[in-house]
Amino acid sequence: MADDDCPQPALHAALSHLAPLVGAWSGVGHGEYPTIEPFDYREHVRLDPAGSKPFLVYEQRTWHASDGRPLHVELGYLRPAGPDRVELVLVQPTGIAEVDEGILTRTDHGLELVLTSRLVGRTSTAKEVTAVRRLLRLTGRRLDTRLDMAAVGRPMGRHLTSELHRIDPETDGSGAH
Ligand code: HEM
Repeated sequence: MADDDCPQPALHAALSHLAPLVGAWSGVGHGEYPTIEPFDYREHVRLDPAGSKPFLVYEQRTWHASDGRPLHVELGYLRPAGPDRVELVLVQPTGIAEVDEGILTRTDHGLELVLTSRLVGRTSTAKEVTAVRRLLRLTGRRLDTRLDMAAVGRPMGRHLTSELHRIDPETDGSGAH
C-alpha cells in the first residue's frame, strides 16, 4: 500500500497510457471450464509503479466466494511496448509462467487490453496449459477481466470473468495515488 507521507516518484513517461490502471481493485468473479465445477471468487488486484521504471508491478489474489479459502494468486509486470502495445510477464504458484503480448485500445471511457500468450512455461508437475488469452476492460472506476485458456487437452475456452472496482481514491491520471 502506498504511504501517503512518502512522495511518489513521477510515473515514467512510457506509462502514460497505462496510468488509469494504477491502483487497487477489488470485486467478484466466476470461474468455469468444461473439466471443473463452476465456482465464484473474490479478487484483489494491485497495479503499482516501481519508482520511475517503465513498467507496472501487477499482483493478484483470489479467495473462494463461499468459504473464503485462498485460491489462485499471480505476480508479474505489465510493460508498455509502444503507444498501443503491451506485454505482461507473470508467474503462478501452480508452476506456470506466462509471457503475454497484446494491444491497448483507448475507448471513450477507459482502456481495453487484449493479451495473448506467446509462451506458457510449465514445470514438470504443472497442469497442461498451452495458451492463454486475457482481456482487461477499464471503464471509469470499473475493471472487467476475462481469461480464456487452452488446457488439459481442451481448446481455447472461458476459465474466468470478473468485475472489479477501484478501491483507492481517484487518481489524477499521473499514476500518483
Ligand atoms: C482468478 C484466478 C484463478 C482462479 C480463482 C482459479 C481457480 C481455479 C479452480 C477453483 C480450479 C478447479 C480446482 C483446481 O483444479 O484447483 C481451477 C482449475 C484450473 N485452472 Fe484456474 N484459476 C485461476 C487462474 C488460472 C490461470 C491464470 C490459469 C492458467 C494460466 C489457470 C489454469 C487452470 C487449470 C489448467 C485448471 C485445471 C483444469 C483441470 O484439471 O481440468 N487458472 N482453477
